[in-house]
Amino acid sequence: MAIPVLTIDGPSGAGKGTVSRAVAKKLGWHYLDSGSIYRSLAIAVLKQNVELTNEPGIVKTAQSMSLEFECDDELVVKLDGEDITSQLGLESTGNAASVIAALPEVRRVLLQKQRDFRKMPGLVADGRDMGTVVFPDAEIKVFLTASATERAQRRYKQLIEKGIDANLSLLTNEIEERDRRDTERKTAPLAMASDALYIDSSDMTIDSVIEEILNLIR
Ligand code: C5P
Repeated sequence: MAIPVLTIDGPSGAGKGTVSRAVAKKLGWHYLDSGSIYRSLAIAVLKQNVELTNEPGIVKTAQSMSLEFECDDELVVKLDGEDITSQLGLESTGNAASVIAALPEVRRVLLQKQRDFRKMPGLVADGRDMGTVVFPDAEIKVFLTASATERAQRRYKQLIEKGIDANLSLLTNEIEERDRRDTERKTAPLAMASDALYIDSSDMTIDSVIEEILNLIR
């Protein structure tokens, strides 16, 4: 029997992470935060001073890096044995991740690393191309989005709550720029799978999004 997969794709800041973690916990399934793989690679590349345009250099880094994921309540990621969790959420990491994620050979190398997360009793996979490229045979696919303004506001609130200085119009610009890069790239662009359910969370609470997805599975 195929191992069940629920894919949740969508742009940055749509609430995919929170929703996917909650659904995985409720179902007792494994969880793949595919963005954190691209983010970890970005950290490795920046650490090794490899240029973000040097595709062979980045591919080499992707092939040789060792990643360990520990997921209890919070996700802990170790890169070559070093805990990099605190660097994962930085805007600079996300922006660098989106630049290297546009490189086709880099995506090819990371494909198997992502598919290895598919284990019994099931997997919730969150990203941009989970339903279209990585797990095209997933039973249930969701495309979760929200307006760029709403996503920037949520991110702004998160940063301010953490005591980090933030600028709303700058964040909106960065989000729009990242959306553009992710949707316009040639390889595995951010796109909704034809068999996915579309959810716009702009005017929804996180809890109601979680409920809607759980109902879909039931
Ligand atoms: O989801 P997150 O913001 O952590 O992803 C960071 C970047 O990694 C995205 O902007 C995107 O360019 C890239 N990414 C991707 N494919 C995925 C997950 C993330 O290209 N499946």
